[in-house]
Amino acid sequence: MSTTTIIAIDGPAAAGKGTLAKRLAAELGFDYLDTGLIYRAVGMKVLDAGFDPADPARAGEAARDLEPADLQGPDLRTDEAAQAASKVASIPAVRDALLDFQRRFAATPPGGKGAVLDGRDIGTVVCPDAPIKLYVTASAETRAERRLKELQAKGIATTFDLVLAEMKERDERDSSRAVAPLKPADDAHLLDSSALDADQAFDVAIAFVRAKL
Ligand code: CDP
Ligand code: CDP
Repeated sequence: MSTTTIIAIDGPAAAGKGTLAKRLAAELGFDYLDTGLIYRAVGMKVLDAGFDPADPARAGEAARDLEPADLQGPDLRTDEAAQAASKVASIPAVRDALLDFQRRFAATPPGGKGAVLDGRDIGTVVCPDAPIKLYVTASAETRAERRLKELQAKGIATTFDLVLAEMKERDERDSSRAVAPLKPADDAHLLDSSALDADQAFDVAIAFVRAKL
């Protein structure tokens, strides 16, 4: 039984999960794990090897062979990586292969104090017993606007319509898959950040977390 505190943060694409999770971890002295990055790395590993990320055998193998260096890939924040991630993420063998690593990180974070994990299934599957669960969301248009700004700041040429379409396709696939679909845990606290900037969302979240600790 773990004695560290686990904070589970889930929600759809570009809801502000990572930004919030990082700030909560920094504020509390906890370690942070971006689980989406792991799925992105598996997706890119399959693509880079010239295969289809939806191929269960190839994707399962890539997940089992994943190494820390794969998480440093330069292309992991692109829409291409996001789509590949969402495809490998529907494959049960991939999710199984990545589960142990995520659970170990949550139970024994490097700093020993606590862990904040963000993703799609942290509160429902990876850490169902986490004492603190947040489900962060915002309207699709708000989220697409946020992601567009991020991509443009990195010099990636795209449009609002393309980003919105990519995100909706991914949210639909993530919500409708048979294994570990995107959905709030029954005991998750909902945080709609549509009308909040990142500072305001953090203020709401840290107040909730402190009340629970
Ligand atoms: O991790 P996730 O994909 O859910 O979102 P993110 O990468 O943390 O955030 C996407 C963008 O939204 C970032 O540029 C944030 O600065 C911005 N943002 C936010 O995180 N929270 C808000 N309440 C408003 C904007
Ligand atoms: O930053 P954004 O929210 O757009 O995506 P991400 O968190 O990096 O996740 C990329 C993809 O990985 C998602 O669309 C999901 O398909 C998958 N994922 C998952 O299935 N389970 C997780 N715990 C985290 C990510």
